[in-house]
Amino acid sequence: MLAKNIEKALNEQIKIEAESSQVYLSMACWAEVQGLEGVAQFMYRQSDEERTHMLKLVKYINERGGHSIITDLKAPKTSFGTFKEMFEELYRHEVFVSNSINELVHITLGEKDYATHNFLQWYVAEQIEEEAQAKTILDKINLIGEDRGGLYLFDRDIQQLVIKSSVSPKSNG
Ligand SMILES: [Fe+2]
Ligand SMILES: [Fe+2]
Repeated sequence: MLAKNIEKALNEQIKIEAESSQVYLSMACWAEVQGLEGVAQFMYRQSDEERTHMLKLVKYINERGGHSIITDLKAPKTSFGTFKEMFEELYRHEVFVSNSINELVHITLGEKDYATHNFLQWYVAEQIEEEAQAKTILDKINLIGEDRGGLYLFDRDIQQLVIKSSVSPKSNG
């Protein structure tokens, strides 16, 4: 049985993952209408992944005798300035999510809830990957600068990233 404060904190994380999914879906749409097909595919996939993160939490809470609460969500922005600014936002968002996961882990230790602590380790590892990926992309963008040709190549590059990881999917259960 989950302690009430842990159930509440996990439910808050459900909302954060759901909102992340919406943010990336909105980024996908923005990129798609700009003609950045590779970036759009990348963002659609990110959006799907965030939904799986959310669902994993939903199932866990319900299985442990809690009740997953599905709520309304904050609407994401619909335009993102430059694509560099968009990826900066993605990076900041992932750092925010990592902090939130860390806080959750902290709460489980306080409650001596080692089952939930163990469950959350998957998220800890996932956040390391997501932050690293966002950082790698940002480094590339900084190399390109404002060069249009570079942007075209970047769009193709990131498409390769999507194809590669759909061939060897990371374990996101
Ligand atoms: Fe996530
Ligand atoms: Fe994420």
